[in-house]
Amino acid sequence: MTMPGYVHGYGTPEQERLVEQAEHWRHRLIRDGTQLAPGTRLLEVGCGVGAVLAVLGQEFPGIQLVGVDIEPKQLEFARGHLERAGVEASLFEADALALPFGDESFDHVWMMWFLEHVAEPVAVLRDAHRVLVPGGAITAIEVDYSTCRAEPSTPAIEALIRAMVAGMAASGWSDAGTRLPGWLHEAGFRDVDEGERPYWWQDDDLAVQARYASDVLESALDALTQLPGTDDAELRAGLRDLRALVDQPGAGLGWVVHKSTALR
Ligand SMILES: C[S@@+](CC[C@H](N)C(=O)[O-])C[C@H]1O[C@@H](n2cnc3c(N)ncnc32)[C@H](O)[C@@H]1O
Repeated sequence: MTMPGYVHGYGTPEQERLVEQAEHWRHRLIRDGTQLAPGTRLLEVGCGVGAVLAVLGQEFPGIQLVGVDIEPKQLEFARGHLERAGVEASLFEADALALPFGDESFDHVWMMWFLEHVAEPVAVLRDAHRVLVPGGAITAIEVDYSTCRAEPSTPAIEALIRAMVAGMAASGWSDAGTRLPGWLHEAGFRDVDEGERPYWWQDDDLAVQARYASDVLESALDALTQLPGTDDAELRAGLRDLRALVDQPGAGLGWVVHKSTALR
């Protein structure tokens, strides 16, 4: 089950943003710290447009990829994207709460920017646990929006961050990253590694990251302006200030991501 009002929507620009997003995180987050031997049967739950599956297939040749998503439009885009990327994967339309696979079907389950959107993350993780072989691994990656900091900040940037936290909390979990290790324990996983990654971007990295963060926030802007107490003009000013951060002397931008891992 998806939470009401998926904040990013399913339009083509959003689908293309997911592809750019996976590219953005290819080395520093998806590949970094990941070990997948050839032959590994990997399931991505909430695979969206196949952007992460494509990166995994390219970075770890010889793994067997399967993806599920609840939204047929995402899977249609994913089929084209994976073909263009030269990566083979089997895709299924399914709800993460009822994965259409037998017990112990996979060696690895991957979830990325996904649990923040679901109403019952622990129930989803329990089904992931069920489809993993004993000793199989899970990688789950989420952010906590309240950890986002900009320096020097402006009232409009602060309003934008507050709106994003409120928007994610209203439609899912704004603090999924911080909650991940606890959710994994509750779902029955062992050897949970929190995988906390605090990022602080400056200098050359800042331009890239400020653009990336602005794109993520902009993709949710329509949903954010519907929230009580938000001011459309102020949120747009926040986006402008964030994009201009790189021009400020000594500027920085950061947030905390969790790349949590655990075993069945
Ligand atoms: C932000 S996208 C992330 C996609 C992909 N993991 C990535 O990083 O590019 C979240 C995806 O989760 C899917 N989704 C939401 N709730 C779901 C559910 N209950 N079961 C399966 N997929 C779901 C949405 O349709 C969407 O494609």
